[in-house]
Amino acid sequence: MPVRNDTIFERFLAPVVKTFLIDRDAILRYYQSRDWQQESDRLRNPAVEYPSYYSSQNFHSIEGGYLSLEAALSYDPITQYALPPNETWVRKALLERVQGSPRRILDLGCGTGTSTRMLKRAFPQAEVIGLDLSPYMLAVAEDKAKGDSRSDPYGNRLDIQFVHQNAEQTGFPDASFDLVTATLLFHETPPEVAQTILREAFRLLTVGGQVLVLDGNQSVIRQTEWLAEIFEEPYIKAYAAGSVDAWMGKAGFGAVQTDSLWVIHQITQGVKPLPGQQVRSVEFATPLGEGDRQWAWNWRSEAVRGG
Ligand SMILES: C[S@@+](CC[C@H](N)C(=O)[O-])C[C@H]1O[C@@H](n2cnc3c(N)ncnc32)[C@H](O)[C@@H]1O
Repeated sequence: MPVRNDTIFERFLAPVVKTFLIDRDAILRYYQSRDWQQESDRLRNPAVEYPSYYSSQNFHSIEGGYLSLEAALSYDPITQYALPPNETWVRKALLERVQGSPRRILDLGCGTGTSTRMLKRAFPQAEVIGLDLSPYMLAVAEDKAKGDSRSDPYGNRLDIQFVHQNAEQTGFPDASFDLVTATLLFHETPPEVAQTILREAFRLLTVGGQVLVLDGNQSVIRQTEWLAEIFEEPYIKAYAAGSVDAWMGKAGFGAVQTDSLWVIHQITQGVKPLPGQQVRSVEFATPLGEGDRQWAWNWRSEAVRGG
């Protein structure tokens, strides 16, 4: 692949390096070390149709959003600053909420696979699949999962499958996973899409299976205008106006609960109940948007009427 340092640096890295303490040379070296076009083409699913919210928007000031190699290569160096106080600590908080020992795990919108790898390390016996709409993000995820196996075939390779697909309609069979996760996905999607993804997660889970969503704290972002402005995030205000726990309840999940994490993050969890089981313990940790409030009111009234 012809290497065009001028292009990647001038077009993209220069402004990013100015803003964050990022090792520009390390990114360029990584960029030059692989044939990324070939790696992403190998993962690309030609049947995938990109939804317009995804293909028509720039994310984080990057032209083409996640459908660009620049976004994929700079994602990890930037994300370390987006998850204070410490990226690993924040991601581990999601792992700590996993109930039991899931055997099949699906990480939706897995990006460069940082949480996916942590899931595989925490549950080495589980079959772990990372799914994303960007073949470039997946190429980086797969490369990271290979660890240093290029120089050492017995190195820290992690057996994770990466799938190029839309999380709204994954194509996996009903009840085929016992844990579905989504980290930092919903603030990147319009709320209707987040809700479609939660309905898909519900379909994919076995009864008793768990869904876990880590993302920005909606009520805090709502009250803190600058947080919504920091990155170029086209849907973050709409995300903040909603409520993941209400969306989860609406998708059919029970035992829904949102915990605030280091003020600016939140983790929401839910469990797929038995068919016909009364779903009770929804805790609306985040104040609700208008549509959600109406739904929550109806839901609560029905729960009360149901005794
Ligand atoms: C902010 S990144 C989060 C990546 C990763 N989960 C993490 O925690 O670092 C959001 C990811 O969601 C992906 N994405 C957005 N909409 C999606 C959809 N409908 N289906 C699958 N992936 C999607 C993007 O391509 C991107 O990789």
